[in-house]
Amino acid sequence: MRLDVVSIFPDYLAPLRLSLVGKAVDSGILDLRVHDLRDWTHDRHRTVDDTPYGGGAGMVMRPEPWGEALDTLAPPGGAQPRFVVPTPAGRPFTQDLAAELAAEPWLVFGCGRYEGIDQRVVEYAGSRMRVDEVSLGDYVLAGGEVAVLVIVEAVARLLPGVLGNPESLTEESHSAGLLEYPVYTKPATWREREVPPVLLSGHHGQIARWRRDEALRRTARRRPDLLSRLPADELDARDRRV
Ligand code: ADE
Repeated sequence: MRLDVVSIFPDYLAPLRLSLVGKAVDSGILDLRVHDLRDWTHDRHRTVDDTPYGGGAGMVMRPEPWGEALDTLAPPGGAQPRFVVPTPAGRPFTQDLAAELAAEPWLVFGCGRYEGIDQRVVEYAGSRMRVDEVSLGDYVLAGGEVAVLVIVEAVARLLPGVLGNPESLTEESHSAGLLEYPVYTKPATWREREVPPVLLSGHHGQIARWRRDEALRRTARRRPDLLSRLPADELDARDRRV
């Protein structure tokens, strides 16, 4: 998968060279290219922002450098990427969207700063490529860079060959619309706290049932919104008793 990231702080994306995502880059699974938006400015101060039309606080990113960045990375008429713009005004980023993005051959991320990017950039991009304005949650970050780190990590670990054990994908939180059950490792007793005995029993059926119950209880307590969104056939009769 090819990944282009456009930012006025390219150094912010340095963590993409580390750990799991870094290994995907080193092995060629991810073709990562980070660009400085200011390379597409032409004035002495390499200006990327200006005051908002209509007034108000803060600055808005001017459209021209973004237009040139898009035209350079994905010339009109050629193959087109999917353009992802993190913004608190976007639609929620979810595991389903991560899976959808992981199926794309090419993603371009546009990192906004200040009060955001002139809306015509998204409109223009949308005339020739798929555009997603995506929010990580109901809080405001200083810019899109940290959101890109999050989104790329969630996407990269779904790419074939990135996880050592792809089975961890099927077991984890959100894969069945539920939060993950609690996990334990050795020692069996630690500071007078025991691992739940069923996990030491060797009864695979009972262990699976216990994990399912814990996942249901946790989800009901912490994320009742997720439970109410589960398709009816996701819950069996045992589940309903938990
Ligand atoms: N940029 C600033 N805040 C953001 C958020 N909550 N999600 C995505 N991008 C953002």
